[in-house]
Amino acid sequence: MQAIAAQRGICGPVLVDVADPPSPREGQVLCRTLQLGVCGTDREILSSAEPFTPPGETYLVLGHECLARVEQVGERVENFSAGDLVVPLVRRANRDTRHRVDMLAFGEYTERGIVHAHGFSSPWWLDEAAYLLRVPESIASVAVLAEPLSVAEKAVNEAIGIQQGRFPGAGWDVDPPRVLVTGMGPIGFAAVLAARSRQWSVTLYGRDPVDSFRAALAEQFGTCYVPAGRFPSLPRDIERAGFDLILECTGSDELMLHTARFLASRGIMVWLGEARQAIPRNHNLERLVREAVLRNHVFVGSVNASPRDFEAALSDLEQLSSAHPHMLQSLITDCVSPQDSLWHFQHRRPQGIKTVLTYE
Ligand code: BGC
Repeated sequence: MQAIAAQRGICGPVLVDVADPPSPREGQVLCRTLQLGVCGTDREILSSAEPFTPPGETYLVLGHECLARVEQVGERVENFSAGDLVVPLVRRANRDTRHRVDMLAFGEYTERGIVHAHGFSSPWWLDEAAYLLRVPESIASVAVLAEPLSVAEKAVNEAIGIQQGRFPGAGWDVDPPRVLVTGMGPIGFAAVLAARSRQWSVTLYGRDPVDSFRAALAEQFGTCYVPAGRFPSLPRDIERAGFDLILECTGSDELMLHTARFLASRGIMVWLGEARQAIPRNHNLERLVREAVLRNHVFVGSVNASPRDFEAALSDLEQLSSAHPHMLQSLITDCVSPQDSLWHFQHRRPQGIKTVLTYE
């Protein structure tokens, strides 16, 4: 069988022949890939030409956003049976640890399809049952979005936890935050979903014109869309007209510095995006520091997702797909076969959001 891989020294994806997986051993599950999402991390791995291959290998099988069907289970697997729909977790700890897996340092974990472990772009793969989550059939058509959504859920859950710790009894469950999301890629939209499924009011700031597909979709999700260049000037009363939570999904330092000025007192900005190749620039950060000090701001970096966040993603997909069945589907802008997918591992169409590979 074939898989899509990143090979050392090569910038584009390659098709590699990989062996069929053996029958599942004790605790293992044999899965068949149904759908696979492509994301910015895949493109970043490829453009580096230096994938983190599994030890002793020259390529890394790509694919970490996967929806699969259980084909066969090994002994002592009690919670899954053939026919179940599942999504796999991405990150796994190398050894027992007291930290949550998404909080580990580089070197303490593998990530399937990203760091030192093959991903899910082959038609069949094996995994430990402990790394699989069951998916209800009712969300089969959108469950491939669970992984990117889990990344946004983590960002939101981290911010909620910080506020609960700082303001016991007066957190966002009492006083919902006004949210700003920056960026219109898959993580920007995932941030919109995570915030809207909590009924929070969301402004989305992006580069697309107001009459574009993505801007219209953002509004269908109930956000107030503001195109670049139309961002309002700094209000006189930032407490009344500012934001309490900014989910920064672009990685642009310029935009981050600009939008941080709209953070009301006690606000949090979570960084989910990062510039893939950071270019040194001169910025005066003293104003950011001054406002952050005077307004008790928190800036948080967030990567990956814990099982808690995956569960939240699955339940939000259930809730949103019963409320807006077609809108979620619209986030999948490109559906391709694995054979026709290679271009998408290096490019995204200007109005594209998520490319999904569909397996036979
Ligand atoms: C994945 C995360 C992963 C991160 C860094 C993202 O694309 O969604 O699960 O931790 O890349 O490797």
